[in-house]
Amino acid sequence: MRDPFVGIVSPTQDAVARAASHLRAGELVAFPTETVYGLGADARNADAVRRIFAVKQRPADHPLIVHVPDATHVPRWARDVPPGAKALADAFWPGPLTLILPRAAQVSDTVTGGQDSVGLRVPSHPVAQALLAAFAAIGGEGIAAPSANRFGHVSPTTAAHVEADLEDEVAMILDGGASEVGIESTIVGFAHGAPLLLRPGGIGIDELTRVLRVRPRTADTDAPRASGTLASHYATRTQAFLVSADRLRTEIAQREDRDERVAVLARALDAPPAFEGPWIRAAADAGPYAHDLYANLRKLDAAGTDAILIEAVPDAPEWLAVRDRLTRATHAGAQDDRD
Ligand code: TXA
Ligand code: MG
Repeated sequence: MRDPFVGIVSPTQDAVARAASHLRAGELVAFPTETVYGLGADARNADAVRRIFAVKQRPADHPLIVHVPDATHVPRWARDVPPGAKALADAFWPGPLTLILPRAAQVSDTVTGGQDSVGLRVPSHPVAQALLAAFAAIGGEGIAAPSANRFGHVSPTTAAHVEADLEDEVAMILDGGASEVGIESTIVGFAHGAPLLLRPGGIGIDELTRVLRVRPRTADTDAPRASGTLASHYATRTQAFLVSADRLRTEIAQREDRDERVAVLARALDAPPAFEGPWIRAAADAGPYAHDLYANLRKLDAAGTDAILIEAVPDAPEWLAVRDRLTRATHAGAQDDRD
């Protein structure tokens, strides 16, 4: 039987221990990480992992990341750690990096979506670390966790975002404040030899290159399936459009002429004097911009306008992960193929 939902809980030692027990009992627990909030299940419990897919309405062939307390746990999940992967783990764990490695024999197909690889991450958030430690103390080996949102929706960066999306689907939501990075981990694949950047994220491509001493290739259509790589991911319910700074005012005027109400996520520009809709002027730098991105999108989405216009961001390497999320959030087909 499922435990009753207790809502958002402050992460005291006692609450974290109870969360770990819920996981051991096959329940789902939402917890903070430095990237986004995760929807956690015992990664060794196939039934619990299946519930993640059911709750998120996520297709079964989209693999989950297994979170472990530190790199010494990797051999339980991966049969091989190539030197490049080891170097990245040494440099960036704990932190916003996920490694895709050849999976060890006993890893369940439910977690890996049937692939011969497994995604592993050591999160740095103190509450995630405390939960992993408490879970390990009662025999847990790893926590499978996707972002704690419905499939295709904007990822959560606060406990309130999780509650809004998943309500009573989880036994407990541990509150760890606003996620520091604000966008998902960087995913680097080593399942097929040379490093492949599968998803840009919290660790920039220049930082990866510095450690790997080669620039990782970026994912192409042959890459292993990663749900964050679906064109329509990270979508708002309101249709969103990327607009260059040059065109933003004209675009607003044209839409207002058609009696459309618009919400704007600006970066450099201030609202025109007569503008009445919601206007958020986001941070000028990539780090703080990413930190607030999902909360900003959720706020603008909640305004229920006809469209969200997003001022395009710079074409520089440090903006790669933000550009990736904005492109997906504004993908033209988003209305048709997301859920
Ligand atoms: O920052 C993050 O990574 C957050 C926090 C909670 O850790 N998690 C997250 O999980 O973003 P999720 O499920 O929303 O995205 C994980 C991505 C998906 O695109 C998934 O397909 C990919 O990782 N992935 C996991 N295992 C994989 C594998 N074996 N091969 C290829 N892609 C994999
Ligand atoms: Mg996700």
